[in-house]
Amino acid sequence: MKKNRGKENIHRDYFMYFCQNFSTMYRTHNCGELRLKDAGKQVVLSGWIQRSRDLGGMTFIDLRDRYGITQLVFNMDQDASLCEEARKLGREDVVRIDGAVRERSNKNKNLPTGDIEIEVRAIEVLNRSELPPFTIEEDTDGGEEIRMKYRYLDLRREPLKKNLILRHRLAQKVRHYLDIADFLEIETPALIKSSPEGARDFVVPSRIHKHQFYALPQSPQIFKQLLMISGFDKYFQLVKCFRDEDLRADRQPEFTQIDCEMSFVEREDVLNLFEGLIVYLLDAILQIKYNGVFPRMTYREALERYGTDKPDIRFGLEITDLTAEAGGKGFRVFDTAEYIGGICVPECAGYSRKQLDQLTEFVKRPQIAAGGMVYVKFQEDGSVKSSVDKFFSVDELKGWGERAGAKKGDLLLILSGEKSRTLFALSELRLEMANRLGLRKKGKYAPLWVVDFPLLEWNEDENRYQAMHHPFTSPLPEDVSLLENHPEQVRANAYDLVINGVEIGGGSIRIHDSALQDRMLKLLGFSDEETVSQFGFLLEALRYGAPPHGGIAFGLDRLAALFGNTESIRDYIAFPKNNAGRDMMADAPNFISQKQLDELNLRFRE
Ligand code: AMO
Repeated sequence: MKKNRGKENIHRDYFMYFCQNFSTMYRTHNCGELRLKDAGKQVVLSGWIQRSRDLGGMTFIDLRDRYGITQLVFNMDQDASLCEEARKLGREDVVRIDGAVRERSNKNKNLPTGDIEIEVRAIEVLNRSELPPFTIEEDTDGGEEIRMKYRYLDLRREPLKKNLILRHRLAQKVRHYLDIADFLEIETPALIKSSPEGARDFVVPSRIHKHQFYALPQSPQIFKQLLMISGFDKYFQLVKCFRDEDLRADRQPEFTQIDCEMSFVEREDVLNLFEGLIVYLLDAILQIKYNGVFPRMTYREALERYGTDKPDIRFGLEITDLTAEAGGKGFRVFDTAEYIGGICVPECAGYSRKQLDQLTEFVKRPQIAAGGMVYVKFQEDGSVKSSVDKFFSVDELKGWGERAGAKKGDLLLILSGEKSRTLFALSELRLEMANRLGLRKKGKYAPLWVVDFPLLEWNEDENRYQAMHHPFTSPLPEDVSLLENHPEQVRANAYDLVINGVEIGGGSIRIHDSALQDRMLKLLGFSDEETVSQFGFLLEALRYGAPPHGGIAFGLDRLAALFGNTESIRDYIAFPKNNAGRDMMADAPNFISQKQLDELNLRFRE
């Protein structure tokens, strides 16, 4: 990396354009910056009325802007008419005031400006506000729906404001790091050709080209690969991506990626460079020093140990495979199961019947759909108690405990059934226990690279293989020969970055050989014709000297939510969609006029 480029600053002379020449008509200072040292200064402030309090002869008003809150004071004895005027102000009115800074007798240690107040001399109402539909305070009385409808008011609240500032700082630091590492930020189109990448495309009808559609990009994947072929060996972009998929707390139909690609790199180069980015961000934003390298784990190992390819490794509670020990012993549920797995929970042998029933209900919920749960308590006195002690001897139960590393006082929770579903259920149970035991500590960050994903996964509905990552991901070189005969065994040269159980980023080394790309598309069930019509331009480009390349994309919204210690990415997006994909404020999607439909040559089928 080049040294010192990060220290470049905008030359002082340029600051006059937005500092010295700035009008003081509306403000000489903002509402967050005045301190005791400013006492005696004449100032002009503008902002919103947060709240006001009448105390007999005095009226106090909290004036708010993006930077903070400053207390205004009006004295009946000094200027009765001004005081009357102040009393008429309502929440969220916008005002401009003139006054003098003075030391406060009753200081507020919780407010950065809490040592001073402004003795107001003149007040001008810049705009009145209607009564807001909810109070604009940290803990508002407004429910989610009403806050989404009046998002512009919600954004005035401190927590959301902080979130957007955090997001901004993250974006700036990302750009800074990548710029120093020689990456170029290059924009790619938002109206593109529809191509299967995993989720459904949002499509946009073309007016000029009748019956034809653009798609909005699910990611700039193909474009960034083309940029590598163009010779821009390090590319990045903070870019909007669009996916028509089912929504969750960490999924939005439009979201932002930190999208990156590099040429002449191997997997380790990509992992190291982006590990550096995350370590830098943790330090620059949260002042957390991460020592050492991020652990790496294969996909297979992640599934066996944690039941998921995005394990939260802030805590243990790993899964133990008990299939060999517990199957075939005459307990039908286990005997008919493909897989039996358990989680040893320390110091929970004292769990009551009720607590165990709650856990059973938890794993039986439709989203998890386990058939039931078996427990074994390894009691402090050395005895063993289990829901299946009719079927298994104490020695057998103790054998499971030994395998799972159980000590006296521990509780072993066991699920069984079809392997992948049971592993999924165990992973959910593991998180639930960790939540109950307070093991998912906020402020602790446990990153992990998951590598060697399967290249393909079977799509039951379409009766064909599909790319687990995307069709441009290269197989591990040693697995290429298995492509046609044992496609299910082929591992991808792909990686995900998981932090605290959240998939923060994913990428791969790409196929840069046109013939291999063609083979891959065939394997995915594309006919020659489809291959040419959908990917012809990429296959052709690969024939003009494509360098070896690879990359990664991080979810900026998810990264912001992770750094802000919140689950929902919506709180880090200024104008998000709700769970049904609607913009509640503008009320979109919505119908378009007949004229627009006609222009687009579109007609609804009844
Ligand atoms: P992938 O599909 O894994 O890879 O996406 C990369 C990252 O984007 C984030 N993400 C989302 N965030 C919010 N809402 C969504 N609906 C959503 N979908 C994905 C996740 C995810 O890890 N082109 C490849 C990257 C590459 O191969 O370089 C891609 O898009 O944090």
